[in-house]
Amino acid sequence: MLGHNAMSALDELYQTICNCHKCEISRLRTKAVPGEGANNTEIMFIGEAPGWYEDQQGRPFVGAAGQFLTQLLKSIGLEREQVYITNIIKTRPPNNRDPLPQEIANCKPYLERQIDIIKPKMIVTLGRYSMGMFMPGMSIGQIHGTAVKKDGVLYFAMYHPAAALHQGSLRSVIQSDMLKIPDLLAELKKECEASHAQESHKEESQQLKLL
Ligand code: URA
Repeated sequence: MLGHNAMSALDELYQTICNCHKCEISRLRTKAVPGEGANNTEIMFIGEAPGWYEDQQGRPFVGAAGQFLTQLLKSIGLEREQVYITNIIKTRPPNNRDPLPQEIANCKPYLERQIDIIKPKMIVTLGRYSMGMFMPGMSIGQIHGTAVKKDGVLYFAMYHPAAALHQGSLRSVIQSDMLKIPDLLAELKKECEASHAQESHKEESQQLKLL
């Protein structure tokens, strides 16, 4: 479980997000959608923006795309509660239009704070807007299903689950990209264990030198 401090840091952040009126669209929302899931997880999924159902419930990915995401998670043995799910913007754009650059910029500090509190080892970007934030200038058609490590975090780009609802042929592409995640996580775990072992070996040698 996550420490009390991180829990209250997230609660505080959620309050700030729910009271945020930096963008005009905040006046149109039913509920802000900060994010949800395990706060001590190794893996964070970042989508684009809340849709109608998310705006009604204040929860991310609860509509049709969300149901597909839930299925995808199950396909790799994960429940939603075991990962953290959020979006690059926390308010639904009217008629589900694309998020504007200024809206993305206004919400960016909230996403950065979530990453800072949860400290995921792996970030899965869902769709091109989310990918663009971490892997700018790349094309989703080219890099989906591939991972890149930056500053100790592994970024993995996927098509947005909603893409499969509009373009059926992408469904199997998304499913097979998702199936790559367990091996990537296992690899990260191995690397982590190796670096811990190296650290404790260093400490032991230092203690021996002191004796
Ligand atoms: N699409 C998104 O990008 N996020 C949601 O929360 C729902 C649909």
